[in-house]
Amino acid sequence: MTRIFSGVKPTGHLTLGNYLGAVRRWADVDQRRADALFCVVDLHALTVDHDPARVRRLSRQAATLLLASGLDPRLCTVFVQSHVDEHARLSYLLECVATDGEMRRMIQYKEKSARERERGGSVRLSLLTYPVLMAADILAYGTDEVPVGDDQAQHVELARDLAVRFNQRYGHTFVVPRATRPAVAARVMNLQEPTSKMGKSEDVGPGIVYLLDEPDVIRKKVMRAVTDSGRDVVYDREAGPGVANLLEILAACGGGDPEALSGTYASYGALKKDVADAVVEVLRPVQQRHKELCADPAYVEDVLRQGAEKARKTARPTVDEAYAAIGLLPAG
Ligand code: TYM
Repeated sequence: MTRIFSGVKPTGHLTLGNYLGAVRRWADVDQRRADALFCVVDLHALTVDHDPARVRRLSRQAATLLLASGLDPRLCTVFVQSHVDEHARLSYLLECVATDGEMRRMIQYKEKSARERERGGSVRLSLLTYPVLMAADILAYGTDEVPVGDDQAQHVELARDLAVRFNQRYGHTFVVPRATRPAVAARVMNLQEPTSKMGKSEDVGPGIVYLLDEPDVIRKKVMRAVTDSGRDVVYDREAGPGVANLLEILAACGGGDPEALSGTYASYGALKKDVADAVVEVLRPVQQRHKELCADPAYVEDVLRQGAEKARKTARPTVDEAYAAIGLLPAG
């Protein structure tokens, strides 16, 4: 059976980008057609300046939102990365296969380290090695497919490279995974800055729709979205990124094709109104279920405990095999 693995990093509140680019597909399709594991990748939240209490809070919230979005523990495994030692165990071995040049070429490292230095801060070594840990997340489970948004494609490519290199050097150990992306909304853009990704780690901004935003806040954010200088509603990511982004969000929420939808609008105002309605409707059941789950934290904890147990059992044999293949003595 196809094995699927993906994750979300608790560095901020989950956004509409996370939902449309990844989480919704996990719930609607992936968990039903494969042996799927979904993970709150908390170790990845420690690569930048962090507040321990906030990471804890956001990890719990992310797990609750994954369940609220429809991940069903009877169909898939939901867990927290740090509860399963195999991720960190395997990461070190993969550091011995990756090169530092490879790490420095990663776009997210370049961008985030530059931002950190601009602020006068120091760059944690873990920010550089982060993609290796991500490769370990994926390879530990014999993963075939990694459903992600566009921004993670380069990281999944690295996981493929490391799997192939390890297998060539030390004998076949890892499945070589591949990224899968959604048909639309693989890169939801910031509503105020439609040439930048809608990212959760940025400061709270009027251009980011969070999954737990109240309906009137969502409406305000969408109605104030930056559009383009023309007046016609056309789908052109290069010439009109603001309108193209709205059309993609609408297509992702309501079905349909952004290009075809563009022909049905005479004004930006009418488009924005429909986008706002569509987003509010898509998020309504998630918010409702989130509220219910918040009233039952013991249930969420139980799901995570059982998920970690299952994940450990799945990852252990592959990671043990990698330890043996690379030349380490078995513990006996
Ligand atoms: P993260 O937490 O930034 O994002 C989680 C998922 O949401 C997708 N995504 C988006 N999709 C469309 N438009 C956007 N604006 C947008 N923003 C985020 C991401 O592509 C991702 O699929 N490194 C990963 C977490 C990770 C992981 C893994 C993923 C760690 N280990 C192993 C898959 C497999 C990350 O930072 O995702």
